[in-house]
Amino acid sequence: MGAEARELDRRRPSAVESVARGALGMVKVAVIGTGYVGTVAAVSFAAVGHPVVGIENDEHKLSALRSGAVPFYEPGLADLLRDVATAGRLTFTSDLAGAVSSADVVFICVGTPPGPDGRPDLTALRLASRAVGEAASGRTVVITKSTVPIGWGAELAAILDDASEGGDADLAVVSNPEFLREGTAVGDFLYPDRVVLGGEDRDAVDLVAGLYRPILEQSFPQGNRLLRPALIRTDTATAETIKYAANGFLAMKITYINEISRICDTAGADVEMVAEAVGLDHRIERKYLGAGIGFGGSCFGKDLQALTTFGDDHRIPLPVLSAVNPSNQIQRHQVVDKLRSGLGSLRDRRIALLGLAYKPDTDDLRDAPSVTIAAALLGEGADVVAYDPVVKHVEELPQLLTEANAYEAVTGADAVVLTTEWKEFAALDFVAVASLMRGDLLVDGRNWLDPAAVAASGLRYDAMGRRAYQRGDGPAG
Ligand code: UGA
Repeated sequence: MGAEARELDRRRPSAVESVARGALGMVKVAVIGTGYVGTVAAVSFAAVGHPVVGIENDEHKLSALRSGAVPFYEPGLADLLRDVATAGRLTFTSDLAGAVSSADVVFICVGTPPGPDGRPDLTALRLASRAVGEAASGRTVVITKSTVPIGWGAELAAILDDASEGGDADLAVVSNPEFLREGTAVGDFLYPDRVVLGGEDRDAVDLVAGLYRPILEQSFPQGNRLLRPALIRTDTATAETIKYAANGFLAMKITYINEISRICDTAGADVEMVAEAVGLDHRIERKYLGAGIGFGGSCFGKDLQALTTFGDDHRIPLPVLSAVNPSNQIQRHQVVDKLRSGLGSLRDRRIALLGLAYKPDTDDLRDAPSVTIAAALLGEGADVVAYDPVVKHVEELPQLLTEANAYEAVTGADAVVLTTEWKEFAALDFVAVASLMRGDLLVDGRNWLDPAAVAASGLRYDAMGRRAYQRGDGPAG
């Protein structure tokens, strides 16, 4: 890899070259896979003016998308999808070959779920890549958006080479990792902190930079010129590593404050105050210092696993990264310990969980801390009941009962645990909650409720690394 390829281009977008087709908004975009990342990318590129076709081979999903419905919960996405579809800029098809052959750029956004050995399962990715190589015609830039193991770019190039042999395609690959958070994905796509493009073919990277131009310059109708993101141009391996390094750091930061919260629990210190004060240091900053029951979701745990697997495969010692997932698991069990010490034996105790999704504004249950906690409580003989505004049942835990609302869930409960910080839980009438419960313990697994307000309703308030409160306790000074 040459020095040129390694050079980071941090020019602000106003200096991004006017790439002919990008500048004219004529780049035809195909997006393979209409899961989370693919749908958000397809809708967002259409929203900033590009003609986009989304490719989906599942007939049910396809007909839902064609009728303007999104097959998962993401605020704002369905409305925007309907707008861009009505404007004629976004269509959906199952005809991968047809869509790819007439596209200038093809985003591969298929899932890379964890395989049985913890490594990402690349089956769908390899199949899609081969299909692209076979179908592509003329100059086509193939962009990886799925989160892929470091080194995937080279494998993709080899698959495309092999699959396109004998055809007229002129293919180039670019790595363009995504930094979308579930629940705020459209905003994260349209107003990102940075756009990362990795590739060894300069023209191909230019073409993709042109595609991002309305976002880089914030020149689309709802753009905010004060929020112009940085463009990072680099080589493929660096782009792939940036994605993992970002997620690994965020996961590590959360886990760090969670370990501090355990110290606070014993020391009688308040982790929220600690995080506030530590976060005022600009080198550290407050974001992702939210202590609680730990991170969940499909990304952090899986990406850390991918990093440590890379370390194992290449004999790179990674003791810090290797410690993050196990420490995150310990944090989930802190809640069970708190319940045990508050209630004694958990056998036949009724515990109500408020929230199941791994975070608010999503219906995603992948690696959700609530599920680990519910399984541990059930394992100790507790009756566990839950309420979540969106998730209505947990397939892997058939014994877990769900109720229609929070008040029904807490009725007769010996203890309540706040497991997801859905907005509606802050508005609960805690006096009513206290009167409906059999016991009086509320464990705030997200350090999210007002301790004094909860305690004033007659409940005993406990949280993660925060002083326990009961009626009569004043606010922290
Ligand atoms: C994460 C990253 O934030 C995105 O930048 C990245 O694109 C995405 O993974 C991905 O790789 O696809 P996401 O998993 O959707 O996004 O959600 P986050 O909002 O980052 O939260 C992850 C988990 O950390 C949640 O369980 C959340 O409750 C927890 N968290 C977050 C904390 O426990 N404390 C905090 O201070 C912040």
